Amino acid sequence: MSILITGGAGYIGSHTCVEMLNAGKEIVVMDNFYNSKPEALRRVKELTGKDFKFYECDLLDTEGLIRIFKENKIEGVIHFAGLKAVGESVQVPLKYYNNNITGTITLCQVMEDFGCKKMVFSSSATVYGNAAVLPVTEEAPKGELTNPYGRTKSMIEEILKDLYISDNSWSVALLRYFNPIGAHESGRIGEDPNDIPNNICPYISQVAAGKLEILPVYGNDYDTPDGTGVRDYIHVVDLAKGHLKALDYIMKTTGVEAFNLGTGKGNSVLELIAAYEKACGKKIPYKIVGRRPGDIAAIYADPSKAEQVLGWTAELSLEKMCEDAWRWQSNNPNGYDS
Ligand code: NAD
Ligand code: UD1
Repeated sequence: MSILITGGAGYIGSHTCVEMLNAGKEIVVMDNFYNSKPEALRRVKELTGKDFKFYECDLLDTEGLIRIFKENKIEGVIHFAGLKAVGESVQVPLKYYNNNITGTITLCQVMEDFGCKKMVFSSSATVYGNAAVLPVTEEAPKGELTNPYGRTKSMIEEILKDLYISDNSWSVALLRYFNPIGAHESGRIGEDPNDIPNNICPYISQVAAGKLEILPVYGNDYDTPDGTGVRDYIHVVDLAKGHLKALDYIMKTTGVEAFNLGTGKGNSVLELIAAYEKACGKKIPYKIVGRRPGDIAAIYADPSKAEQVLGWTAELSLEKMCEDAWRWQSNNPNGYDS
């Protein structure tokens, strides 16, 4: 019996593949390499010394998915595959709705046909919008979303809930990630953005490496201790481990449940810069610019449900996240093309 990992060549997927293989799980990986490279999977094999089946396949390709389920005994799916660039989603919403939502529906249809009704889904803290109460718990109402990307996550959550209402044998964990950063401590796998990074950590990494000149800090007039945005940064390896715990849980249960995967601690942009400077031993030049449209002042998780129900907590510090991000960046100045 195997676990299918969709989007397994991507940033979080590749780290989860490593943790799954190290835990002795059988995995089958599929990806269309839209935002990733085969080299990531080669390195997953190198790091773990283990092999696995890979299918280059698109989520929207029903026949391709059927083939995966026919050729393997899939007992559950960890579903990472999706498009995630917030700004791009505003420009090309149909592409995002089609890929993320139609893709997930296609996957669920094939899963249902093969009697596989266990899914761990990559959701996001973005579904909370601008949460009124911090730290945010899973009971908080969903917020107003400012972009199509965020709406795909929120809509997919609702689709999966409806699926369960129609058939109580489904079991789904909706993992609401806070801000994953860092890389595997080997420095062999990490985040490899195609273009100028949108997210802060890869941006800082490229400034530290001299590839980008200066970090724009989007606003220092928020209602936060130092005026810059506050987020719950979580080490990608801690996040990956959360998927193993969620998988164990859904294998024993039915229902649809949301879990926050965060550390429970908020750090400001300036605190992140300071931690990164310590990790890389260089000054990170930055300049305060205007707020980025759609940004909120602060969000961080109450992760106690994941601890109580899944037995999972984040263990790695902000310093470790920055050290590992820097090791990945400095060892691979051009990402997987290095
Ligand atoms: P990523 O882009 O590195 O990985 C996603 C993978 O899915 C890529 O390898 C891509 O090629 C693949 N993919 C996309 N569309 C596909 C399709 N139609 N068919 C097959 N493969 C497809 O992103 P990531 O950071 O690893 O994120 C993984 C998941 O977690 C995504 O669903 C993302 O929206 C979600 N998420 C990410 C973050 C974050 O900060 N990275 C935060 C919250 C949620
Ligand atoms: C963003 C997305 C969110 C998505 C998440 C992971 C927006 C509004 N939100 O979250 O939907 O789930 O990425 O992909 O895009 N910052 C700077 N300078 C930069 C980049 C960021 O100061 O160059 C600041 C931001 O204002 C924010 C913090 O750094 O305060 C984190 O930003 P980012 O890494 O983009 O993540 P989020 O905005 O939290």
